[in-house]
Amino acid sequence: MPNAQPYRALLHLGILLSGRGSNFLAIADSIREGRLPGVEISVVISNVPDAPGLKTAQQMGLPAAAFDSRGRKREAHEADVVACLRQHNVDLVCLAGYMRLLSPAFVAAFPHRILNIHPSLLPAFPGLEAQEQAFVYGVKIAGCSVHFVDEELDHGAILVQRAIPVLETDDAHTLAARILAEEHKAYTEAIAMVASGEYEIRGRRYVRHNA
Ligand code: GAR
Repeated sequence: MPNAQPYRALLHLGILLSGRGSNFLAIADSIREGRLPGVEISVVISNVPDAPGLKTAQQMGLPAAAFDSRGRKREAHEADVVACLRQHNVDLVCLAGYMRLLSPAFVAAFPHRILNIHPSLLPAFPGLEAQEQAFVYGVKIAGCSVHFVDEELDHGAILVQRAIPVLETDDAHTLAARILAEEHKAYTEAIAMVASGEYEIRGRRYVRHNA
């Protein structure tokens, strides 16, 4: 991967979500509270028109758009989403509970400019219901990962991982809740790492310049 270009101006985020939107809200809170200087949310997009996260974005006065993916061909749906992201001059796409696999064409439209959060310590437990998968498997350490998106599911270079112990008293639900609290911190950390521009990706490794 070529060296990342440093951001000298604002970094415009495009948030994609399908549901609750707590990761989106955590990012918005970080911006509001000054933890992500030089970063702003330019648009929030959902493939689910009644997603609670989209409603939250509207209530916050952010540009928000719904492109219903039901019954539409992937290419046509994605073309609408990509056009909307471009219209809002998005530099960095943040998947925040966006429950759709992106096509190679979408990934190529934002090369090394799409992040995803996944509720497991990748490469363990990709796919759906990762927290439940980890709990049932009986792992002792669980967590979350923020990674660049590539053409494979939950696969690209990892920026941040946060780990927590699985407690004797946990069930899949309490474990997921404690992982979610870590997700909210991890996404802000990862966006700050990209916003710094002071890095390159070597193979699968995020390497900070002057580290
Ligand atoms: C989060 O736990 C996120 O990691 C997960 O969906 C949830 C969305 O919650 N994403 C995936 O599993 C993607 N493979 P949120 O809508 O409250 O941010």
